[in-house]
Amino acid sequence: MFNNIIQSKYYPIIGSSLIILFYIHYSLPLLVLAYFIIAYFVHNYQRGPIRTYNSVNLEGKIVIITGASAGIGKETAKRLAWQNATIIFACRDESKTMKVINEIKQVTGNSKLHYMNLQLDDYDNVSEFVKNFKSKFGVLDILINNAGIAQWWHKYNKNNHELVFATNYLGHFLLTRLLMDSLTKESRIIIVSSVMHELIRSKLNFNDVLNGKYLENYNNTKYCGVLLCLKLSQMLKNTKVVALHPGVIKTELLDKAGNTILLQLIQKIMFWFFRPMTLSVEEGAETTIYCTLMPYRELLSGGYYEKNRLSKYSKSIEKLNQVEELWEFSNQILKQYL
Ligand SMILES: NC(=O)c1ccc[n+]([C@@H]2O[C@H](COP(=O)([O-])OP(=O)(O)OC[C@H]3O[C@@H](n4cnc5c(N)ncnc54)[C@H](OP(=O)(O)O)[C@@H]3O)[C@@H](O)[C@H]2O)c1
Repeated sequence: MFNNIIQSKYYPIIGSSLIILFYIHYSLPLLVLAYFIIAYFVHNYQRGPIRTYNSVNLEGKIVIITGASAGIGKETAKRLAWQNATIIFACRDESKTMKVINEIKQVTGNSKLHYMNLQLDDYDNVSEFVKNFKSKFGVLDILINNAGIAQWWHKYNKNNHELVFATNYLGHFLLTRLLMDSLTKESRIIIVSSVMHELIRSKLNFNDVLNGKYLENYNNTKYCGVLLCLKLSQMLKNTKVVALHPGVIKTELLDKAGNTILLQLIQKIMFWFFRPMTLSVEEGAETTIYCTLMPYRELLSGGYYEKNRLSKYSKSIEKLNQVEELWEFSNQILKQYL
């Protein structure tokens, strides 16, 4: 039998098996090591320098954070609670948010944390939120436009506006516009955008964005967030407005994207594989916290921040020149609420 194998047609199979075993034995550990070294550098590159502003006291400062019930918004709220801020959790799910508020109250001892219902894709609700906020708090020091969704398939709000655009951009546009007269001197507006804004290379037709004519709208909304930041920074003299990319973080964002089972599985495998390269949620909140806590004079209005430092918008932003067009379009679409 042994002789048969040695002499026979099995040569190629035995040979290649030995090569594969040799390869696995010697190369696999090397590949794993290389993967972790690359992951370490990618992770550190994404994170940027570590900033600490532990001594900043936000006592008396009123902060609104949209989408503070989960992910980056929740971590941002926790950190600002440590700094004594009065925080309005502008969120859509009361029981989920109250759990988060109670958890943060317990660890930080800050009792000035308030839930206020905000459903960004419902413009009547946004107007109602602003009325309630003004009657309870009057002034606003820091607005953090953080909430966001991604969707694999188009959905629409009750105005028949594509849901991602309505939530990520139009709802925040309306919120910001209505709150502008409550902003204090040396106030800040922080817009959580994304590096995905860089994928927009040709002019957007905003009507098509609104009607869901583009295949997907997430990147479009992040581009619009940047344009809004630029417009507001030109308009507001006593308020600094910035946009930022938080990094790539495993949060609930894609879990809620309307996935099929197959997409969920692919996502899980991808995130599992890339996990060592992505940021933790705490790290993902750092750029927002950096922009919120850094000395006012150092913050560049109209600036784009990422990796805990000042960065640059995509070159297309200037070339495409859509700041005014988007401003006019948004005012027109939402004129009955303004
Ligand atoms: N994760 C990343 O890698 C990444 C990268 C770049 C940019 N970003 C941006 O970072 C921001 C935060 O995202 P995340 O990753 O932390 O996602 P997340 O964990 O899904 O948190 C999103 C938050 O937005 C809230 N929200 C969603 N739709 C809303 C609506 N219609 N009205 C009011 N609130 C609503 C969610 O409320 P519920 O808890 O009720 O769902 C939640 O609090 C988003 O703007 C996202 O685009 C994230």
